[in-house]
Amino acid sequence: MADKKPGGAGLRGQVAGKTKICTVAMGHSGLTYYGYEVGDLAEHCQFEEIAYLLFNGELPNSAELHAYKARLASLRELPDTLKEVLERIPASAHPMDVMRTGVSFLGNLETEEDFSQQKDVADRLVATLPGMICYWYRYSHDGVRVDLDTGADSIGGHFLQLLHDKPPSALHEQVMNVSLVLYAEHEFNASTFTARVCASTLSDMHSCITGAIGSLRGPLHGGANEKAMDMIEQWSSADEAEKAVLGMLERKEKIMGFGHAVYRESDPRNAIIRSWAEKLADEVGDTVLYPVSVRVEEVMWREKKLFCNADFFHASAYHFMGIPTKLFTPIFVMSRTTGWSAHVFEQRADNRIIRPNAEYIGPEPRKVVPLKERG
Ligand code: COA
Repeated sequence: MADKKPGGAGLRGQVAGKTKICTVAMGHSGLTYYGYEVGDLAEHCQFEEIAYLLFNGELPNSAELHAYKARLASLRELPDTLKEVLERIPASAHPMDVMRTGVSFLGNLETEEDFSQQKDVADRLVATLPGMICYWYRYSHDGVRVDLDTGADSIGGHFLQLLHDKPPSALHEQVMNVSLVLYAEHEFNASTFTARVCASTLSDMHSCITGAIGSLRGPLHGGANEKAMDMIEQWSSADEAEKAVLGMLERKEKIMGFGHAVYRESDPRNAIIRSWAEKLADEVGDTVLYPVSVRVEEVMWREKKLFCNADFFHASAYHFMGIPTKLFTPIFVMSRTTGWSAHVFEQRADNRIIRPNAEYIGPEPRKVVPLKERG
């Protein structure tokens, strides 16, 4: 892994602020949250421990984790008026738009009055997001008003139970947990930077998270996991996939789920989710999607030295767990809300409004010609 050179478009390589929360870069230990390497966290921690870490700077002890999980579980119910709003959103809507509306509407009902409430607001969002998306999805697609009181032990388990009407297997709950850990935080990525810019104006938490959801929605960012799924499910064999990818590269098309704005040789999250995708492929007896994914990975590295980012093997992993493709990016939101919130706390604690300059490339100064003389 190596950083890109500073300068050029997209603020690439520029240091845009300080953070204690996360490293992604060479010279540190790769991707770390408060000093813990992401693979270590994914192996040993529940997602709720990561939320606690990101909100408090330290991992909880077992009593603290127990209390925190109980607190999050007690915050899962949605206000009736929010349920009414969700019921009015059509099945054809994009789930990311549903989440954006859901968070924004909750901000009208449970407005953050002052920054002393910020952790409460963040906990409430982390607790309600799975219910928000599943309530809408199940109502609009199945005509069912799901009971949000699942009693599930984990956020990942809660989500899967709402979606499938039954508790998930231990394997599926574990994969959801790993996935939520991997997606929780990633330094100054586009959506987190959006949240920090919004926070720097001293705006409220719901506005910061709503803006971040809008940034994450795009296919160059969080939306890539859905686009990767759309792509791989077209192919019925690894050979067919190879031929098609070579054609796409020839036509200079983007292959979703590959490349990264910071990493140069690999994304440390990929090997982790890839190994879980393989286990799930074995579980469901898949002989197409996983081999297709592996071949695309090989071809991209051979032809372009481009590697899978976190999104690529998430696509098949989620698919094997019976999650509809359109809900992939909302899972990213369920997780990344922890990182976004932590960055809002950090920005607020040492704030100066974020306001860079632009290099002007427009016309020379000129005078307005009155309308009647313009012809
Ligand atoms: N498929 C095909 N070509 C790609 C590519 C991909 N996924 N990612 C990068 N490239 C190409 C670029 O077009 C560029 O080619 P060029 O020099 O001929 O113009 C070259 O590789 C270098 O691109 P780079 O500067 O590394 O990309 P970036 O920093 O501008 O953008 C991404 C980074 C992530 C936006 C980009 O890799 C991408 O669009 N990936 C697909 C979407 C995705 O998976 N997003 C999730 C990110 S976690």
